[in-house]
Amino acid sequence: MRPALSTCAVALLLAACSSGDDKAARRRAAGPAPSPAALLRVASASAGEKVFGQCYACHSIDRYAADRSGPNLFGVIGAEVAQRRPRFPYTSALQSFGGRWTPARMDAWLTNPKRLVPGTAMGFAGLADPLDRADLIAYLQTQR
Ligand code: HEC
Repeated sequence: MRPALSTCAVALLLAACSSGDDKAARRRAAGPAPSPAALLRVASASAGEKVFGQCYACHSIDRYAADRSGPNLFGVIGAEVAQRRPRFPYTSALQSFGGRWTPARMDAWLTNPKRLVPGTAMGFAGLADPLDRADLIAYLQTQR
């Protein structure tokens, strides 16, 4: 898994990671104005692994990997917000957000972290494409 990711992450940086993804077809299959749930039904975890290249500078995802400037994300879907990595210095903003990382919440977070949780330290503008978010969530769901 790791070699595939790093090869592709490098390719992504070169904006040349053409895996022959069927993104347009998947988008059509989701129907007009699809809900996040409809997009999750056509989501591709392998496409999401490539989107994770945008998170990788700050987040590890291998089970035993150390936290980076963001917490390790292994098993994050379904986990309690800001609890999984007890030694990570989560902001009080994220801690008081509370609850669990459901796919719907993760979608809102990945759209615009600072809009969902004002005061979070996650310095990431957000993913504009709803299918990229669905693919990424599908990938995160496999990492548990
Ligand atoms: C520039 C660094 C950076 C990038 C890029 C980044 N994050 Fe984060 N992320 C953080 C930091 C820092 C936190 C802790 C935020 C806090 O405590 O307010 C965080 C927190 C999180 C959390 C909460 C984890 C928990 O245990 O509750 C999730 C989920 C997350 N990030 C997902 C992502 C995903 C997915 C991406 C890629 C699309 C991403 N992040 C990109 C820095 C980053």
